[in-house]
Amino acid sequence: MEKLRRIVNQIAYTPKSQLLSTLSPLHLSLIPLLFLSSSLYKFIISFRHTLYHFGLIPKHRLPVPVISVGNLTWGGNGKTPMVEFIANWLANDVGFSPLILTRGYGGADEAKMLQRHFNGTSVKIGVGANRAATAASFLHRHGFIYPLDIACFEGSVWKTRVVSDKIGVAILDDGMQHISMSRDLEIVMVNALSPWGNHHLLPYGPLREPLSSFNRANAVVIHHADMVPNDSLSVIESKILEVNQFLSIYLSAVTPSHFFEARNASCQLHLGFVFEKIVLCVSAIGSPNSFVQKIEKMGPLYVDRLDYSDHHQFQEEVIKMIKARLENLKNKFGSKPIMIVTEKDYDRDSKILGGLDPFEVLVLCCKLQILNHKSCSEDGFKKLLIQSLKAQC
Ligand SMILES: *[C@@H]1O[C@H](CO)[C@@H](O)[C@H](O)[C@H]1NC(C)=O
Ligand SMILES: *[C@@H]1O[C@H](CO)[C@@H](O)[C@H](O)[C@H]1NC(C)=O
Ligand SMILES: *[C@@H]1O[C@H](CO)[C@@H](O)[C@H](O)[C@H]1NC(C)=O
Repeated sequence: MEKLRRIVNQIAYTPKSQLLSTLSPLHLSLIPLLFLSSSLYKFIISFRHTLYHFGLIPKHRLPVPVISVGNLTWGGNGKTPMVEFIANWLANDVGFSPLILTRGYGGADEAKMLQRHFNGTSVKIGVGANRAATAASFLHRHGFIYPLDIACFEGSVWKTRVVSDKIGVAILDDGMQHISMSRDLEIVMVNALSPWGNHHLLPYGPLREPLSSFNRANAVVIHHADMVPNDSLSVIESKILEVNQFLSIYLSAVTPSHFFEARNASCQLHLGFVFEKIVLCVSAIGSPNSFVQKIEKMGPLYVDRLDYSDHHQFQEEVIKMIKARLENLKNKFGSKPIMIVTEKDYDRDSKILGGLDPFEVLVLCCKLQILNHKSCSEDGFKKLLIQSLKAQC
């Protein structure tokens, strides 16, 4: 299964002009089948959208405003960091209590990370495949309020007049394809490092929807914008504006904030800790390059890496392989290397990393930032969020 995933992924991200020279005949023979499945998939989703569009299937509306954060392609596009950014701002600065609705797929690793970050705050995290049912149970348990009644602009910041633990807004994690629920704001994340692969739909390409879906969006955020040259950003932007010229386009990046020890999450270390050390980066995420590049910027002496495909589980044999690699580095450089993993990988299986004794395992924590770009800034983005909360009433 892992092997098939790799092959399909390779086909999806190989430009047409390089297909013949980079893929084996066996891989090439898969293309017609993948192409046919893509066409069928396209027909099914457009049919589904038509049913909802004409009200043939009713949409579910929550009694609070809904902000959806979604994507058009597989993995690594900053959806969860964006959900966290929005929830954090609404809860800690504005004073609303947001309810995050997440499916919690892939071993619930993202849900666990959210739970740890928002432990002790007014942010609530509802995990479950049936998001309408999850929302109903949380709204019933905690109650809800209409944010319009309480939001006001004070000086240059948004504040609520009444701070309440009742739910004021719902944030749909991975909500783009969850069209059965009405939303007040649709934010689409695009990964600057691999925006649309070969432009085909699943499974031939990485797209989960055709690019025309940008017509349903209110804002697009190009994530990892700090990791590509400016002219690549311009190409991505013009592609988006070609579909919907009225979209606001924002840029975002994740910036490292600190490390914590895998064996003791309350032990935090700063980023300078790895300066001039030997490190091994191990990850099973959508954009391993961005992770490794961030570590490289911290000035370690030598960086080695092991990449696994997105959501890969670290089994015994993988741990053995990592350990052998660490031993190798130790012999080569004469000092003990440090292993670094992402938070996502840590949350997927925090216990198994204990099997790497006596090597030190650090977990890198990052935060999303909105970058200044043309007329779009973080303040503009926050204003958009507030307006979506008011639009409902
Ligand atoms: C939340 O914090 C409490 C104490 O501050 C701790 O006991 C609990 O394990 C934490 N929960 C999570 C999910 O981190
Ligand atoms: C890209 O644009 C940003 C601002 O828009 C600017 O600060 C940066 O220097 C540019 N980078 C290059 C390589 O031109
Ligand atoms: C974990 O780290 C914290 C903070 O550095 C420290 O106070 C605590 O004693 C550590 N716990 C263990 C079991 O080592």
